[in-house]
Amino acid sequence: MRAFVALDLPEPMLQPLARLQAGLSVGRPVPEKNLHLTLAFLGEVSEAAAYEVAEGLAAARLPAVTLALSGLAPLGSGRAPVLAIEAAGDGLAGLHTKVMRIAREAGVELARTRFRPHVTLARFPRDLGAKEQARLGEFLGLNGTFSLPPAPAPSITLYRSHLRPEGAEYEPLASFPLTG
Ligand code: 2AM
Repeated sequence: MRAFVALDLPEPMLQPLARLQAGLSVGRPVPEKNLHLTLAFLGEVSEAAAYEVAEGLAAARLPAVTLALSGLAPLGSGRAPVLAIEAAGDGLAGLHTKVMRIAREAGVELARTRFRPHVTLARFPRDLGAKEQARLGEFLGLNGTFSLPPAPAPSITLYRSHLRPEGAEYEPLASFPLTG
């Protein structure tokens, strides 16, 4: 199965993000229920490995995170381009390191890419036309510095991702509270 571990967003952030997304007239917005911050992309893993990751997360003391979202950025080197909001926050780097370690201990091979914490807000086709690019540029000009007040993140979730023609469907397999 295709799986990943993500930080669930603080509830008060969801509506403002949805309002921001509603103003974007280009690309495919990520539905509210799918908004998340990926901590570890596990890729294709066996059910046994996913279960082991879940066991590791359940047994760990996961640090609390005060999440701050600030600044829009187009991302996506090598993958389909996205519009994302950048993330930072006390505890975030430590939580990322811990989740990566637990996944590796479960035998999952993780890509050694730099962690650039973000929440993807919209996805674009690879060949974005000139008109769409201009609209995206205009949106970034107006909203590029958008930010939300920091808030505590409630939990992390191990997701299974089903790739469908109409977009990915994320199936939550297990959630784990951040207890500090
Ligand atoms: P994205 O939001 O930047 O596209 C489920 O697919 C989650 O895992 C998404 O948040 C996605 O990040 C991330 N993801 C998908 N493929 C990935 C890859 N090859 N490397 C790292 N993260 C990936």
